[in-house]
Amino acid sequence: MIVGERIRRPDAPDKVKGSALYIEDLAFIGALWGAVLRSPHAHARIARLDVTRARSVAGVHAVLTAKDIPGKNLIPMIQADWPVLAAQFVRHVGEGVALVAAESREAVTEALHTIVAEYEPLPALLDMEDALRAGEVISHWKVRRGDAAAALKRTDLVVVEGTYRTPYQEHAYIEPNGMIAVPDGQGGVVVYGSMQCPFYVQKAVASALGCDLAQARIVQTVTGGGFGGKEDAPSAPGAQVALLARATGRPVRLILSREEDMAVMSKRHPGRVRMRTAATPDGQLVAVEVDYLLDGGAYATLSPVVLFRGTVHACGPYRVPNAKVDSRVVRTHKVPCGAFRGFGEPQVVFAAESQMDRLAERLGMDPLVLRLKNALGEGDETITGHSLTVSVGFRDVLDKVAASSEWARKRAEYARDSGPVRRGIGLAACYYGVGLGAMGKHLNPAGANVLVAADGSVTVAVGTTEIGQGMITVLSQIAAEALGCPVERVHVVEADTSRVPDSGPTVASRTTVMSGNAIRDAAAKIRAAMEPVIADSGLSWVDAVALCVQKQVGLAAHGWAVPPATTFDLETGQGEAYMCYTFSANVVEVEVDTETGQTRVLAVHSGHDTGKVINPTTGEGQVEGGVVQGLGYALVEEHVLRDGRIVNDQFSTYIIPTPLDVPEIHSILVEHPYPWGPYGAKGLGETPIIAVAPAVTAAIHHAAGVRLDEIPATPERVWTALQAKKAGPTASRP
Ligand code: MOS
Repeated sequence: MIVGERIRRPDAPDKVKGSALYIEDLAFIGALWGAVLRSPHAHARIARLDVTRARSVAGVHAVLTAKDIPGKNLIPMIQADWPVLAAQFVRHVGEGVALVAAESREAVTEALHTIVAEYEPLPALLDMEDALRAGEVISHWKVRRGDAAAALKRTDLVVVEGTYRTPYQEHAYIEPNGMIAVPDGQGGVVVYGSMQCPFYVQKAVASALGCDLAQARIVQTVTGGGFGGKEDAPSAPGAQVALLARATGRPVRLILSREEDMAVMSKRHPGRVRMRTAATPDGQLVAVEVDYLLDGGAYATLSPVVLFRGTVHACGPYRVPNAKVDSRVVRTHKVPCGAFRGFGEPQVVFAAESQMDRLAERLGMDPLVLRLKNALGEGDETITGHSLTVSVGFRDVLDKVAASSEWARKRAEYARDSGPVRRGIGLAACYYGVGLGAMGKHLNPAGANVLVAADGSVTVAVGTTEIGQGMITVLSQIAAEALGCPVERVHVVEADTSRVPDSGPTVASRTTVMSGNAIRDAAAKIRAAMEPVIADSGLSWVDAVALCVQKQVGLAAHGWAVPPATTFDLETGQGEAYMCYTFSANVVEVEVDTETGQTRVLAVHSGHDTGKVINPTTGEGQVEGGVVQGLGYALVEEHVLRDGRIVNDQFSTYIIPTPLDVPEIHSILVEHPYPWGPYGAKGLGETPIIAVAPAVTAAIHHAAGVRLDEIPATPERVWTALQAKKAGPTASRP
């Protein structure tokens, strides 16, 4: 079987050698430089915008404002509120106000300076709690199961509570956003760019130009990372650069600098979670109450669905008979937040798992034993009443990470550490509904075109994208397995909306399952056409194809996959929210210097029930990358804002882990097959990042006796907590 093997990535050699062409490497003859004039204010009325003089700057071909948009000045989204260019008001620092295209960078800069933009500043909502009080709610989702309020009043239960805070997180993709638009000579436009979802960009471009979708051809170029940051966010630069190409009749490049990208593109929502958890004295969860708040920024973008995922998974992978969840995402005058690996789960899981650690401490129970006691298994129901009947490998994952880390031994041994540097070991877990689920039904299906050439080589065309995660590798393996051909004969083409079917977005850990199943469907059609000709001739693949060609059998097919139905009642929050779930747990070992507050991560044991693993190497790559990104979230990453402006907008000031910070990572892939998935696969893109931060803070607590309810756990925060503990409960009062 080719599925399950560690085949090499077909895209690796060019990427390693530097010969892969990213958007900034592409050159078009006569291309103009594009740029965006951006708001310096968090909230203001545009009092005057005069571009007349800028238009006459030498070398300038176009200066466009909202008035010059031939189609709609609104990016199509769940709640369409996000303009391509601000018209009367600006609602965050960096919002686009005007566009420039010119012969040179110098002319672009001069034109930007020559535009007369006058603003009348307005009061800005910069704090999510203020926005909540002001009623600026974008979405409010609920879960109502049993009677949590009544359970929380019971005197025979142990109740723990906490308020948790999580910061912005930057995707830190290695390649900033960039787009090049080229007029197609027939009234349409081709937009090349770095992106996750070409069909999203297509909608935005066609809507802004007022043209047919088919006239907005979008080509994804080799993409240097996405992590959710290139899901919907590239729709803005995509539409903007297309407008410039339309206005000038020339190719236009719009490549963001790192500073511009960090200042204006999407990020992970800052969060605040209040949680109360009740359990019996022997550790059986009885009730959980959650109040979950996200800072959405100025426009809704994907916030409603990010919040939905967080709501559904708010209590973790446990049996909770009584659950009350209220989640809200609010509008503030800051950069719009959106999709980021984990998609609304890392924030609420930090709270939920910190609660489990607190509960274990209160009960005097081992945190692993508490998890095992409450772990979802086959036959159990989630808090949304989803009865899990297949592929629930959570207990297996817990057992395996415990064994890998020698949990029990180290838990006891590290507790005996004395002296200033102390070791600790902590645990956290999560689950993740695979695919778009009940809130994304219309985007759920996937298409695939499979074409077999006369020499037996195979072209696979899907609308999902390679963004570094290994899609090409995994889908090649699925195609080869389904067709019965050698994997090196399979070629996956770049995602070009004029040549590939829409397979839905490359998000939600759905690509292997959805595009994989669409490919299997197409391959089955091709095999069915071949069978009558080749029967049981025992011919090799190449000879079988040659015989079919000779017999005039068509060897191309379109495949289509529609996932099992999901349901959700928005009033009660009950239903089968996602088709299936991936389960995950991390054990993290740390060393804390109690004199400086510095935490060093020694090892991470990261386990995932992802169903059948199509390629263990790409799977381990997902785990290692996700864990490191999770360690950044846990320990160092945060944005500092002043008057709504991001102050640290470079990698010299926005700190992420480097290779020197990467600990020993043990990737543990546990296979509980999901029958509907291709060869039993589920998704693995996102679980690796989700339950890292709470495992780190649990390990810090085990090491140093201080519990951080806010991340990142910087040396300053850990040190401050240690000082407060030393001073005792009364002295910490101001
Ligand atoms: Mo993803 S965060 O679902 O692009």
